[in-house]
Amino acid sequence: MDEVTVAVLDLASVEAVERREPAGRQYVRPAFAAQTRGEQTVLVAWIDGVPVGSGEVTADARPELRNLRVDADRRGQGVGTRLIAAAEALATDRGVLRIGVALDNPDARRLYQRQGYAPTSEIEEYEYTYVDDDDQRVTVREASEYLEKDLPARA
Ligand SMILES: CC(C)(COP(=O)(O)OP(=O)(O)OC[C@H]1O[C@@H](n2cnc3c(N)ncnc32)[C@H](O)[C@@H]1OP(=O)(O)O)[C@@H](O)C(=O)NCCC(=O)NCCS
Repeated sequence: MDEVTVAVLDLASVEAVERREPAGRQYVRPAFAAQTRGEQTVLVAWIDGVPVGSGEVTADARPELRNLRVDADRRGQGVGTRLIAAAEALATDRGVLRIGVALDNPDARRLYQRQGYAPTSEIEEYEYTYVDDDDQRVTVREASEYLEKDLPARA
């Protein structure tokens, strides 16, 4: 597999990520702004200098990994697993990491459960709008369950 690196988003990388976004998505600048305000940390996965996936870890007492996604042509190659590992490294001091997974997303749930995330039975229903890979705005009503993993303190 091509070598994957995961890094915290910095200002110099914002443009590289933005260039690969569908024009209407406008994800990375607001995400970076929220990081600058101290609300979250944005992780980006890179292969050969190209951003191929991302996710955010919230700056909460019980941090959450949000908006995990990998480019469609790079899925199933371990990139998501690397992003989860990097998110766990950021959350270690809090001792726990949470991930909300849509009830109709069994593939992602399988990935998280394999990484040690356990169901909590905490279900949240919400509506959100996103811009898909074809630059179309899509609004969905969804229910997610939080999964959780305890993270042992570093020695
Ligand atoms: C879920 C996602 C981030 C996983 O990233 P990834 O790089 O494909 O994950 P990895 O290669 O490390 O692990 C592969 C596992 O991911 C899961 N997976 C989820 N969706 C997948 C997809 N579309 N293609 C391949 N694997 C997928 C599977 O459990 C797979 O394991 P399997 O071999 O048991 O089927 C990625 O597939 C994705 O962006 N999906 C669309 C967005 C999404 O559903 N995000 C999760 C929100 S909670």
